[in-house]
Amino acid sequence: MERTLVLIKPDAVQRGLIGQIISRFEQRGLKLVAMKFIQMDEALAARHYAVHQGKPFYPGLIAFITSGPVVAMVWEGKNAVATVRATMGVTRPWDATPGTIRGDFGLTMGRNLVHGSDSVENAAIEVALFFDDGEFVNWQRETERWIDDGE
Ligand code: RTP
Ligand code: MG
Repeated sequence: MERTLVLIKPDAVQRGLIGQIISRFEQRGLKLVAMKFIQMDEALAARHYAVHQGKPFYPGLIAFITSGPVVAMVWEGKNAVATVRATMGVTRPWDATPGTIRGDFGLTMGRNLVHGSDSVENAAIEVALFFDDGEFVNWQRETERWIDDGE
């Protein structure tokens, strides 16, 4: 079972899209296991986007992600990392398939609404960056057998 980090970025929070974005992941069948509403500080943003340090867009990316509150969530399920990325759509909203979050709500790369971990390895690192062990909810979903075939 995989876990992956999702951030609803400041643009989506400001635009009132929190509920619609959470719905996309819920209806996909992924299971929510942790969630919080926070404003990221520079230190957290720098650790989260460490791979982009030194790139020309980095200062703007840090300024944007710390500019307002975000919703941080951990979603669990089979192939959760790839499923979240597919549900989000590609980085450039103009290339994102309609039906994806970025393909339905996005226009520019710097306002692309959501973050999702891009690999299983990075997911583990990012989840630990945002959540302590005690912040996960261990719950039984009654519909589980209608979503996961157990294969
Ligand atoms: P994210 O990490 O935010 O989920 O987005 P992503 O994986 O789809 O894209 P990534 O390559 O990790 O880039 C992180 C964010 O930086 C901005 N970006 N700008 N101007 C540029 O060339 C450029 N490249 C990336 C985007 O806002 C992207 O979401
Ligand atoms: Mg990324």
